[in-house]
Amino acid sequence: MSQNLAKKQAGEKAAQYVESGMTVGLGTGSTTAFAIAALGRRIREEGLLIRGIPTSSSAELEARAQGVPICTFDDIEGRLDIAVDGADEVSPVLDLIKGRGAAHTREKLVASQADRFIVLVDTSKLVKQLGTKMPVPIEVIPMAAPVVLRTLKAMGAAAALRLGLRKDGPVVSDQGFWIIDAQFGPIGDPAALSRTLLEIPGVLDHGLFVGLATEVIVGTDTGVEVLVRKP
Ligand code: 5RP
Repeated sequence: MSQNLAKKQAGEKAAQYVESGMTVGLGTGSTTAFAIAALGRRIREEGLLIRGIPTSSSAELEARAQGVPICTFDDIEGRLDIAVDGADEVSPVLDLIKGRGAAHTREKLVASQADRFIVLVDTSKLVKQLGTKMPVPIEVIPMAAPVVLRTLKAMGAAAALRLGLRKDGPVVSDQGFWIIDAQFGPIGDPAALSRTLLEIPGVLDHGLFVGLATEVIVGTDTGVEVLVRKP
């Protein structure tokens, strides 16, 4: 299976859900980039009239490059119609781990404000239990990093500060904060872990998305399957 083609299928399907007049949350990552590109195409070719709230500086650059008008929460009243975004893991009940791109804090804010939160993945992201493949990213105030690391280790997690690949030192988020990646192993109760992590002083937010996704579009190289959250 071509992973790139699968991501493209999911991204392009998501763009079909968008109608003129909508305000759309624009997620971060390689899969959502296909959705943003498809929205840009629909704007140029069909005259689709939308505006997007980007979840990161990366998504903002992507939207600008594709000609998707952007706005902020100051510019809108009420909720977003749709938010589209990728994920790193998707559980059978459509809970997620996100944040490989260190954008999860804004991504969660935008998703929480959307009537529909549509998640775009290829099949490699589907897991039986969250935590199976990916660590949980935790965004922290830089000063708090050693304290949070000690707390996570006391909870039994293998935790480490995320370091830049083409930058010396820690990855710095769009908020100027740092990211700790914490491996808990398979997570039995994501909602409970979510609450526990948010109670640690110095933590801004983490990459567990519990109860937020309304639909997940799973791309393959031949098409898509749409999973819908059960009420
Ligand atoms: C960024 C994210 C991304 O949405 C997630 O990592 C998926 O990325 P990709 O579509 O490139 O696999 O959470 O913070």
